[in-house]
Amino acid sequence: MKSKEIRKKFLDFFEKKGHKIVPSSPILSTDPTVLFTTAGMQQFKKYFLGEKSPFGKRTVSCQKCFRTSDIDEVGNESHLTFLEMLGNFSFGDYFKEETIEWALEFLTKVCKIPSSKLWFGYFKGDSDVPEDKESLEILQKSGIPKDRIYGFGREDNFWGPTGEEGPCGPTSEIHYDLTGKPCSEGKKCIPNCDCGRFVEVWNLVFNEYYQDRDKKLTPLKQQGVDTGMGLERLAMVLQGKSSVFETDLFEPIIKEIEKQSSQSRADNPKAFRIMADHIKGAVFLASEGVVPSNLEQGYALRRILRRAIRFGKLLNLPKNSLIPIAQKAITIYQDIYPKVKAQETDILTILQKEEEKFEKTLEKGLKFLQKNIEAFKQFNEAAVKEYGQELPFKGGFAFYMYETYGFPADLTLEELKKYPEISKRLNEKEYWTHFKKRLKEHQEISRAGVEKKFGGVGKEVTHEAAKLHTATHLLHQALREVLGEHVKQMGSDITPQRLRFDFSHPAKLTEDELKKVEDLVNQKIEEDLVVKMEEMSYARALESGALAFFKEKYPEKVTVYAINGWSREICAGPHVNHTGELGQFEITKEESSGAGTRRIRAVLK
Ligand code: ALA
Repeated sequence: MKSKEIRKKFLDFFEKKGHKIVPSSPILSTDPTVLFTTAGMQQFKKYFLGEKSPFGKRTVSCQKCFRTSDIDEVGNESHLTFLEMLGNFSFGDYFKEETIEWALEFLTKVCKIPSSKLWFGYFKGDSDVPEDKESLEILQKSGIPKDRIYGFGREDNFWGPTGEEGPCGPTSEIHYDLTGKPCSEGKKCIPNCDCGRFVEVWNLVFNEYYQDRDKKLTPLKQQGVDTGMGLERLAMVLQGKSSVFETDLFEPIIKEIEKQSSQSRADNPKAFRIMADHIKGAVFLASEGVVPSNLEQGYALRRILRRAIRFGKLLNLPKNSLIPIAQKAITIYQDIYPKVKAQETDILTILQKEEEKFEKTLEKGLKFLQKNIEAFKQFNEAAVKEYGQELPFKGGFAFYMYETYGFPADLTLEELKKYPEISKRLNEKEYWTHFKKRLKEHQEISRAGVEKKFGGVGKEVTHEAAKLHTATHLLHQALREVLGEHVKQMGSDITPQRLRFDFSHPAKLTEDELKKVEDLVNQKIEEDLVVKMEEMSYARALESGALAFFKEKYPEKVTVYAINGWSREICAGPHVNHTGELGQFEITKEESSGAGTRRIRAVLK
């Protein structure tokens, strides 16, 4: 079954069951707390909460989604950044019984998947939410044998909310058994086993709760259904392929990469898959007007494009090969999403320009690397002459390359391997250990930066720093509210006496604006808001809507400070626990700090 047919069959099936077909919403989310549409339910969020749906109580869609949260998994058989999600939805209408029954009917009758290939997960309950016995009973009643139904916890069988708050609930998941054989785990090889035997195809979410910004759950007034099935995964199953990259949604792209690189996909499947996924994702983001930048959606686009280029280099792709590959992605989708065709020229220009920019960065890095290798060779020759012994090569500058030139460590390694004198003494394992160690040290140094500046780590000193840090977050958010969302942090500095904050804004602030900002910060101090710290991946932090200071290179894991739903920023801290600890906030000076940038100095009294 071609993917076009799968999409149509899904929409038709649910239309016959009384659902209104609603077109995909854009990938650029209208929800300010998330950057992208990551699930089909997002455009319907308010109807789950009781607002009347103009489409009626049942809808069905095929939604364009973009997620950077799985970016590190892209390269395996089934994870993607861009995907299409098939979903049916009920807003206070049908619930578990129909949802499960129809899902089974669609998969076994319409798609003709043998029922014996389907395994199931349901929510087994925890201290906050009871076991979903209803789903279990419905599954059993429909004739699924017990040994293909398993209970799982929060991690696997509870979904939502998207953004900072919203509907969520227990889920039942349908997994497809790809191999029919257990791995070495034997009987313990069940869905969610990471051996690759199972692929999760359909997630049936039963929205029964509302989760607020403090993660508190309250039962929803109206029950809802939100399902999501990855079109690419279903295509993989129905087309009998062992990965999503061999389906008709990817095959032309992979073929084009093979043509460009003269390597075969089997030589480096991971690089092939990452390139194909990222270029497709870039095409879709660019089609919606995103341009590469160091900010939010633009940063996500830059990140996937540069990653695609990097992996392209590992495949020896010649320059400018992104274009023909992107064109294949456009051809696959032009009938379904005419926008990708209409925007073709713009999309290709964006890709081309970013490739040129990145090339320049890489060239600089390469020059430096070559100079160093020459120097190393000379030293080495001298060492052999002098001591009859060769110099060890630890590849310690991989980190330097990364730090100074943004040169990815895997590319540095590839470059080093091109020099026989180096590669014969290069121990890859040591290379990575060394690089990671340096990276970690660097992160710790940045974290300690504030403490160092304050001349020690005494409790008192740290608390002062914490107060000023927290005040900086309040100021940042207040500026955004008073002046507008264009305000972005351009720099910040703290001394024991004051804070300094540079931000983008085209004009001098008026007396009135300054007063409003100051008042708003003081109001938030008075409200004594809770300051919460969470650790998460950088990608997830951005997706959760956290503000970041984009001139900085962030590590993979970052800390996000959220001030009771009012402000949310990536920051290394330290911070106070309650805004009430800050006292009185006063702006002491406002001035220019370069074109389009203003600087504010402020104190706490
Ligand atoms: N909203 C659910 C998901 O994205 C269906 O998995």
